[in-house]
Amino acid sequence: MSETVLRRGALNELGGLMRGIGCMGKAALISDVNVAGLFMSRAKEALRCEGFEVFTHAVPAGESSKSLSRYGELLGFLAESGLTRSDTVVALGGGVVGDLAGFAAATYLRGIRLVQVPTSLLACVDSSVGGKTGVDLEQGKNLAGAFWQPALTLIDPDLLRSLPAEIYRDGLAEIVKYAAIRDRALFDLLPYDLGEEEEVIRRCVDIKRELVSRDERDRGERQLLNFGHSFGHAFEKLSGYSLSHGRAVAAGMCAMARASYALGLCSAEDASSLIGMVHVLGLPTETPYTAEEVYGCVLSDKKRQGERMTLITFHGIGDCRLTCCSMDELRQALRLGLPV
Ligand code: GLY
Repeated sequence: MSETVLRRGALNELGGLMRGIGCMGKAALISDVNVAGLFMSRAKEALRCEGFEVFTHAVPAGESSKSLSRYGELLGFLAESGLTRSDTVVALGGGVVGDLAGFAAATYLRGIRLVQVPTSLLACVDSSVGGKTGVDLEQGKNLAGAFWQPALTLIDPDLLRSLPAEIYRDGLAEIVKYAAIRDRALFDLLPYDLGEEEEVIRRCVDIKRELVSRDERDRGERQLLNFGHSFGHAFEKLSGYSLSHGRAVAAGMCAMARASYALGLCSAEDASSLIGMVHVLGLPTETPYTAEEVYGCVLSDKKRQGERMTLITFHGIGDCRLTCCSMDELRQALRLGLPV
């Protein structure tokens, strides 16, 4: 598996760390306009002082940049900059930049080296690790993509200090997810203070790396990372994407905790601890969408397998499981977890 460095101030070591894993020559530093204003020149300097020839490109901030047209533009930029197979794409940004630049790295010249430098909490704990890359299609999110492991993920928690509180909060939902699926001790650290942030991120990254090392292609165990996501993706879609990913996942985990309790899979105490924590962290525990509305959306989920689908059920803090269910069972779970 690829290397992960998690250290305060690590952005200044970007060039040295890349040389340490064998990168050299050209580096295409890809960001969005917001992040570029904050960190592009530091990242560029960290690369130049280690002898890299640096080319920079910034896309507009926001999900709309995860498009086929921006992807095409980015491939054109890599070609015009003359990157070859021995060069490197560096994704400096949140999930959008990581997914877009990662997909360009996965496909340009049939694949060149990728380094992820996440600048949002969500990207630090989730999207920059594990090699999922891609763009959205008009028909839905993340419908085109590739598994392409970064050669290095460099996580510098100091970069999170300039994040707006609302964006930071979004990443907390993914942290609750890791605690819920695998790590009761992590749950007990929540809500954490700044001194514990590095430890919290490390635990999340360790869980993700362990699951990905066993199931890179998302055929089995890795799907545990989708806890709260099937319902969450439906909430995002039903809100016309005005509900952020983290908030939608938070409400999705709570709906699944309610359904799991009603099905006798977890105790009332564990379900309310999870829902209570989501609330304490300032994330939504429910949405106005009904079971039938969500069912309609889940029918078009790319993770559906014909007439069956894998749900991630909640059995207690630190214990989620893959449960294969029929569409009728899914409908029942939705009725138990959501308003009818
Ligand atoms: N974000 C879930 C995964 O990487 O599998």
